[in-house]
Amino acid sequence: MEKIVIASDHGGFELKEDLKLFLIEMGYEPIDFGTENSNSVDYPDFGAKVAEAVAKNEISKGILICGTGIGMSIVVNKFPGVRGALCNDVYSARMSREHNNSNVLILGGRVVGKGLAREMVKIWITTKFEGGRHQKRLDKIKELEGRIKKGEI
Ligand code: RB5
Repeated sequence: MEKIVIASDHGGFELKEDLKLFLIEMGYEPIDFGTENSNSVDYPDFGAKVAEAVAKNEISKGILICGTGIGMSIVVNKFPGVRGALCNDVYSARMSREHNNSNVLILGGRVVGKGLAREMVKIWITTKFEGGRHQKRLDKIKELEGRIKKGEI
């Protein structure tokens, strides 16, 4: 059973709980990195846990939810090798896999409803990266990450 890591802050807690059930229904194993209730927490703490697991290749895909998805998006895209896609529609969720090979799907728990979120998760998980000309672009991102690491940028 493929493992998918999932986490949220309080703004995404309710949606996270629903998506965990949906992942199980679809035959995946959700690994929950918190938060555990609706008490106020800081999204960078939870975004970093998922981003680190993906950056270290401990897991290939993650899902993150905060109120808007913006905070989580800012956090995860600082991690080398992590391609976080903040999506509010099914088309973007699909394209983020086909063109960007996104490995973290980010949702806004106060922006999208459960039905739309489930549709996005389903399409995101099942869509394959197209490679080809898109790989060249990802290689350029990797190059940028290398320059940042070296302190050139
Ligand atoms: C928490 O109130 C909220 O700021 C957070 O969930 C998220 O939307 C940040 O980007």
